[in-house]
Amino acid sequence: MKIQKVGVAGCGLMGSGIAEVAAKGGFDVLVREVDERAVEAGRGRIEGSLARALKREKITAEDRDEVLGRVRFTTEIEALADRDIVIEAVIEELAVKNELFGTLDGLCPDHTIFATNTSSLTVSEMAAAVERPDRVVGLHFFNPVPVMKLVEVVRTIATSDETWERSQAFARALGKEPITAGDRSGFVVNLLLVPYMLDAIRQLERGVASIEDIDKGMVLGCGYPMGPFTLCDFVGNDTTLRIADIMFDEYRESRYAAPPLLRRMVAMGRYGRKAGKGFYDYSGERPVPLPV
Ligand code: 3HC
Repeated sequence: MKIQKVGVAGCGLMGSGIAEVAAKGGFDVLVREVDERAVEAGRGRIEGSLARALKREKITAEDRDEVLGRVRFTTEIEALADRDIVIEAVIEELAVKNELFGTLDGLCPDHTIFATNTSSLTVSEMAAAVERPDRVVGLHFFNPVPVMKLVEVVRTIATSDETWERSQAFARALGKEPITAGDRSGFVVNLLLVPYMLDAIRQLERGVASIEDIDKGMVLGCGYPMGPFTLCDFVGNDTTLRIADIMFDEYRESRYAAPPLLRRMVAMGRYGRKAGKGFYDYSGERPVPLPV
């Protein structure tokens, strides 16, 4: 059964990006947010991203209007009842995701795929909470969603071949490259990326080098697009901490243990770019490293 109608639950940083790429891929997209304020913020994110793409001549003004014309918004969960796939990008709380899929389970037809964009929670626990575990899959996108080419397609032991194939085809139809991962915390990318970021923080704690020099080292020495501290601030230090804690809980290996500095920074609200402060201060023309 071909996917035509796409539902996106949650229109934050990831949900808005997913809605945008789905609309760019020609799908009929319905975004559900909890209230009108969240709808307006989500709409603003999509419009802002398209404005950026237009400015950089990635799309034309007609493309932008067509894309916006394919995205509708709702605050009613019942409106998602006719979707062929629903991708959730709500807060990283298992109970919230389970409640959402539990409600949709009673509303959507049998063929509807339930996809989660979770970065670290267990997809199997979401599958176990619904009557259609064979139709539950992880579709893990990367930030910024309109730019990053990868989607991790996460299979649980219950995900059917059909769901996996339809999910891969869907990712390709969004212009993304899928890779398949088993349902283990961190999947492929975060399992490698998060310990790297944690190691950079440990290096800083040990006084090996400054924030700027560690960042410069990885950008100029290895050709990474961002150094590890710029990346931590970009991903969000609260998000990185949460993923690290979940991975440590799963594997009990020291490489996933969050360094105390990361925990202290999160305690003080230094979440990174979205908070205006993280390892860098973003209030000026260019980011300035902050004391840690
Ligand atoms: N729509 C379409 N294209 C866009 C766009 C948009 N909204 N915004 C930017 N672009 C394009 C630009 O046109 C440009 O394309 P070009 O190279 O063909 O000209 C390209 O994207 C790069 O954009 P910019 O020039 O504005 O910015 P930079 O060159 O500084 O790159 C970056 C920004 C893409 C974010 C780059 O620094 C990067 O790749 N950083 C690493 C990001 C990363 O690692 N993400 C993964 C995080 S981990 C994660 O998400 C998992 C989660 O679970 C934690």
